[in-house]
Amino acid sequence: MSDTIWNKAAATNELPAGEMKQVQIGPRYVALYNVEGTIYATDDICSHADASLSSGYLEGDTVECPLHQGRFHIPTGKAMGAPVTVDIATYPIKIEGTVILVALPPA
Ligand code: FES
Repeated sequence: MSDTIWNKAAATNELPAGEMKQVQIGPRYVALYNVEGTIYATDDICSHADASLSSGYLEGDTVECPLHQGRFHIPTGKAMGAPVTVDIATYPIKIEGTVILVALPPA
């Protein structure tokens, strides 16, 4: 992980429990989620077509795409059935003080 770059993504108070949020880091759109107090980060763009997952619906530890209702498991990025078949990327996060940092591979 020597190539890991930690990026400031948001303040913790911008992401209350049960909420999700899109952030742009360089060219990437990343979705941040607060699942019962645990923060996760995934790609924000659905693997099926061009839709923002953070504009969809957060249900437990899954997110439902707003366009065709595909669902993904947030902690692993696993596609959970039709119409989505391709997993989404997940990214490590860490909290420093009140800042959420996301590790992204080099662009
Ligand atoms: S664009 Fe997300 S399920 Fe189709």
